[in-house]
Amino acid sequence: MRKVLALAGVTIVVAIAWIVALPASSSLQPIPFNHAKHVGAACALCHAGVERTAGATLPQVAVCVKCHATAPAGVAQPRWDAMAKTGHIDWVKLTRLPDHVMFSHRRHVVLGQLDCRSCHGTIGASTAPPPRAAARLQMKTCVSCHQQEAASQDCAACHR
Ligand code: HEC
Ligand code: HEC
Ligand code: HEC
Ligand code: HEC
Ligand code: HEC
Repeated sequence: MRKVLALAGVTIVVAIAWIVALPASSSLQPIPFNHAKHVGAACALCHAGVERTAGATLPQVAVCVKCHATAPAGVAQPRWDAMAKTGHIDWVKLTRLPDHVMFSHRRHVVLGQLDCRSCHGTIGASTAPPPRAAARLQMKTCVSCHQQEAASQDCAACHR
């Protein structure tokens, strides 16, 4: 019985430690990126596909080194040099739709002339990478805007 209680105690301590540790490590992103410090740059500078293709895309090092020849604040110089060498930063895409849904940024941003904020909330002003998508896009979010904007509500327009 005592063994069982001890085990339960350990489990609780581990669980609390995990919860306490969670906020600090909750960002999945490799670099403490800060959108607010980059407000002067156009969104499309870093999300290059947004006006041309379906995907907005996340930026690679070649974009960063135009302004950060040396490591930006919060990133160790050897790590930055290593990333610059591979040219790659492993950003994690957080906003994602299931495979059966079709979505095009170009369609919404160029033809629909919608502001990023109408779907992504205030991420453009964030001071640290969010732990989860800043705004959750459900079918009803898509459909209610399509109703307002008189865009297609056909199942086949959004689903393959
Ligand atoms: C158009 C120029 C420009 C580009 C491109 C750019 N940055 Fe920056 N970045 C800045 C400026 C300006 C600052 C603010 C400098 C300061 O506060 O000392 C900054 C600050 C930062 C900081 C420090 C944030 C903080 O909290 O202090 C990080 C990290 C950073 N940039 C990462 C990146 C990454 C990663 C990329 C590529 C995806 C990138 N930057 C692309 C101009 C740029
Ligand atoms: C009508 C809604 C909508 C608008 C407007 C919109 N997005 Fe998105 N965005 C999405 C959806 C939905 C996804 C996920 C797409 C997927 O998984 O196929 C996404 C994904 C992204 C991603 C993740 C990377 C990628 O390629 O999927 C980035 C970055 C992004 N959007 C940036 C932007 C920027 C910048 C703007 C404004 C210029 C913008 N978005 C406007 C709905 C929108
Ligand atoms: C200097 C480069 C840079 C600029 C400029 C920039 N972003 Fe980003 N963006 C990033 C990076 C790096 C990430 C991934 C880390 C993070 O979320 O902070 C990101 C992530 C995002 C995401 C989350 C994608 C997902 O998977 O959910 C959205 C949405 C987004 N940016 C929108 C915007 C909008 C809107 C603007 C303009 C107001 C903008 N970004 C300007 C570099 C940039
Ligand atoms: C804030 C408003 C808004 C939201 C949210 C939105 N859309 Fe749209 N969507 C539009 C508008 C406006 C158009 C018409 C653009 C044009 O002029 O072609 C459109 C067009 C489309 C089209 C092309 C339809 C056709 O006629 O073939 C598809 C597919 C689509 N959206 C999918 C989605 C999906 C999937 C989501 C949710 C993840 C979504 N949209 C969220 C406003 C929105
Ligand atoms: C404007 C775009 C749009 C239209 C129109 C649309 N859907 Fe969807 N649908 C979505 C998106 C986005 C998702 C994924 C939502 C999520 O993951 O929360 C989805 C998810 C679904 C799912 C899966 C639900 C689940 O729980 O996984 C079904 C089934 C579905 N839609 C059926 C339909 C049918 C039937 C119609 C026509 C009456 C329709 N959809 C019209 C965008 C749309």
